[in-house]
Amino acid sequence: MKKDEILKRLRQAGGYVSGQELCKQYGVSRTAVWKAIKQLEKDGYTIEAITNKGYRLIERDEETLSQVSIDSYMDTQWVGKNLVFRKETGSTNMDAKVIAEEGAPAGTLVVADMQTAGRGRRGRGWVSAAGLDIYMSLLLRPTCMPQQASSLTLVMALAVLEAVEELVPSGVGIKWPNDIVVNGKKLCGILTEMSAELDGIHYVVTGVGINTNRTELDEEIRAHATSLMIETMHPVNRAKLIARVMRYYEKDYALFAHSWDLTELLERYNAFLVNMDKEVRVLDPKGEYEGIARGINEKGELIVERESGERELVYAGEVSVRGIYGYI
Ligand code: BTN
Repeated sequence: MKKDEILKRLRQAGGYVSGQELCKQYGVSRTAVWKAIKQLEKDGYTIEAITNKGYRLIERDEETLSQVSIDSYMDTQWVGKNLVFRKETGSTNMDAKVIAEEGAPAGTLVVADMQTAGRGRRGRGWVSAAGLDIYMSLLLRPTCMPQQASSLTLVMALAVLEAVEELVPSGVGIKWPNDIVVNGKKLCGILTEMSAELDGIHYVVTGVGINTNRTELDEEIRAHATSLMIETMHPVNRAKLIARVMRYYEKDYALFAHSWDLTELLERYNAFLVNMDKEVRVLDPKGEYEGIARGINEKGELIVERESGERELVYAGEVSVRGIYGYI
């Protein structure tokens, strides 16, 4: 549709684009361009029109989330390129799994404005509010072994961190394996699910929930959670943030896929690890213990040093880790 292309063009230009240029680029008349601009205004976009200069899109952070708005920010090669947007759904992870079974390509991203049955790790739910936060799931079809794919959840954590860091300049970190925290409170959760056989992967779905523009947090999560709006005191453009996460993910995934492990991402991940050199309690079903976290290895395992000096490797899928004085 012409109006979507014009929106993308205006977005990427950042400044004025002349009517003539738009006519030429899309092979349409001046009236057709004008009509498309009017339609975009009807959709809620603010576009300034100045004689002899052209049209300019005014960026608003409160922008409604839609297929077009997310698409207009997306500047990746393959990650997030095939976009499925739902105003409301049960769970984007469930949707991504259904379309994966139907043969959707790697890089397909499902985004919803609202979830009614959001899923968290360890069988928990994920509280979802309408029109405020980010709920998205990325479909991947890596050619590595199933054990290696569990690190993809850490790759996503790094990508979200890098995108969030552009908005919150200090206090952002990763709580192993994949919670993004700001000043000690959880901002984002990631849930990776996989369909595989012993020797190969059918698909991987990595779901991301980012508390973005909500200012009120439910009682059950208030003590340990936060949102970007709470941290920065102004609304965040969700479509833009989604596209930024996809851009970082594409870059980080390429580094991961060189060796199908975290060798090339290790240093950066460990630099943001909030557990680094902190005392942690490992909630191992075979017996809990305490130690000092010494970062992750290339497999994404947390290295925990016990009092005896012995080093344990903690695998994310099996156990969780708590700070001995609370969440971190
Ligand atoms: C966690 O428990 O920390 C992980 C939460 C993951 C929530 C996201 S929201 C989008 C995607 N769809 C879901 O149902 N869950 C994930």
